[in-house]
Amino acid sequence: RSRELDRLLTFGKLVPVITIERAEHAVPLARALVSGGLRLLEITLRTAAGADSASRIIAEVPEAIVGIGTVLTRDDLKRAVDLGAKYALSPGATPTLLEAAARGELPFIPGIATSSELMVGLSFGFDTFKFFPAVPAGGIPALKALGGPFPQVKFCPTGGISEDNARDWLALPNVVAIGGSWLAPEGDLNAGNWSALTERAKRALARIGQ
Ligand code: 3PG
Repeated sequence: RSRELDRLLTFGKLVPVITIERAEHAVPLARALVSGGLRLLEITLRTAAGADSASRIIAEVPEAIVGIGTVLTRDDLKRAVDLGAKYALSPGATPTLLEAAARGELPFIPGIATSSELMVGLSFGFDTFKFFPAVPAGGIPALKALGGPFPQVKFCPTGGISEDNARDWLALPNVVAIGGSWLAPEGDLNAGNWSALTERAKRALARIGQ
């Protein structure tokens, strides 16, 4: 599971966190992001349209590598598996969720903001974590500090990251990818402004030197 996650993370360092209100937006928005160079997509389960949107993208946009985000419960995790997602992410790391994910096959990225949460995740065998909410939880200095006692741990920070600080986050040796809703802003989604998504994706990749 952990090796498969490492493999998936070679497909990109920027992961848009996407919350979709209308399932008919799913395919054009995924195509727009893919054509901008972003293949790893996080589709959140925060809206009623989330699961349907993910399933449409999985069926119709083969270049997209779809992860299910905002996985809060065992049922959410099962939903991610049933949808055919490639991986799942959570903002947190409850023992119930960690246990279910450790038993399953789907690559899973639990969320942590403190050392103790991280240690619980490590005890279940996870080695890659979402650092959430990255900026409010202490930002780059906090993640640098966590690298002291936990040098082997890899992080995907999200929460408050933007185009302006993306490069700084990725410069940390323990950061494998970063994510955020800034790559799929609500305004563009509601307006169906797909070309803006493509342009932003290209610009963001250029700014991180990819
Ligand atoms: C997430 O679930 O990763 C966050 O909602 C992303 O945070 P952002 O909206 O600040 O990018």
